[in-house]
Amino acid sequence: MKDLLKGIIDKNIEVTEKGKVADYIPALAKANPRDLGACIIDMDGNIYTAGEYRKRFTIQSISKTIALMLAIMDNGEEEVFKKVGMEPTGDAFNSIYKLEVEEIAKPLNPMINAGAIAVTSLIKGRDSKEKIDRLLSLFRKISCNDNIVINEEVYLSEKETGNRNRAMGYLLKDMGIVDGNVEEALDVYFKQCSIEMDCIDIANMGLFLANDGTIPKTGEVVVDEHISRIIKTYMVTCGMYNSSGEFAIKVGIPAKSGVGGGILASVPHRMGIGIYGPALDKRGNSVAGLRVLQSLSKQLDLSIF
Ligand code: DON
Repeated sequence: MKDLLKGIIDKNIEVTEKGKVADYIPALAKANPRDLGACIIDMDGNIYTAGEYRKRFTIQSISKTIALMLAIMDNGEEEVFKKVGMEPTGDAFNSIYKLEVEEIAKPLNPMINAGAIAVTSLIKGRDSKEKIDRLLSLFRKISCNDNIVINEEVYLSEKETGNRNRAMGYLLKDMGIVDGNVEEALDVYFKQCSIEMDCIDIANMGLFLANDGTIPKTGEVVVDEHISRIIKTYMVTCGMYNSSGEFAIKVGIPAKSGVGGGILASVPHRMGIGIYGPALDKRGNSVAGLRVLQSLSKQLDLSIF
């Protein structure tokens, strides 16, 4: 398996040249576009790594999966789905457009920025510090790494330049979707996006989802199997934004990307996969990361369909 993974990484390094690192959040532009790394952890705890798997990167939209999990744990499904829908959009992740034209006035799903801001506003806590601390603790637990922290530089860069997200937050407040303080919800959202991990941490999260919400190493049940299934289903239908349909056909694995270059993938009852490759395609997905997952899926027969 190690040789197979190394071969796939080596073969796809040249694909990184087809993408560009995100620069709309200035601090992200510092990433090396040629980096590519991956980690696979199977159900027995075997860890396979290749390439730049030790590089730390901010998880960005990958955080939306676990923020949704905590919001459902805190409020129950019914309350959460009053504020956010279950349908893919076919639009860019930061699009504002459908908030105005859809018949049902709520973000279409929790994986686009509007839906994620709405979901994050539902996380319980006295103030933004308590909310992000609770979320960070959950990330540490399921990635089996107590040293996970927020990248302060990326957080400040997002906060300073996140005007489109800010506009969405205030629109959601006006629509009655965000109840509390908008700046507080945005602050938690910017911080969750700026959580820093490496491919091993991401693979551990994927394994936790693959194992239906129980940490394989400790046997600790963190979340109900049903909630873990909701998260994986959103990963299939909306995880790769407006590439989700093509990804389902070509790869067929629940996955979630982030503009930091990470991809979280979870193969039910088989393995967790973490990918890092900051050169992105036009839709904000790691261009070489997609190809790595495509090869892995083909060679190991990982498609769930
Ligand atoms: O809000 C944003 O735009 C970023 N913090 C996260 C977006 C993102 O990762 C989209 N992913 N492909």
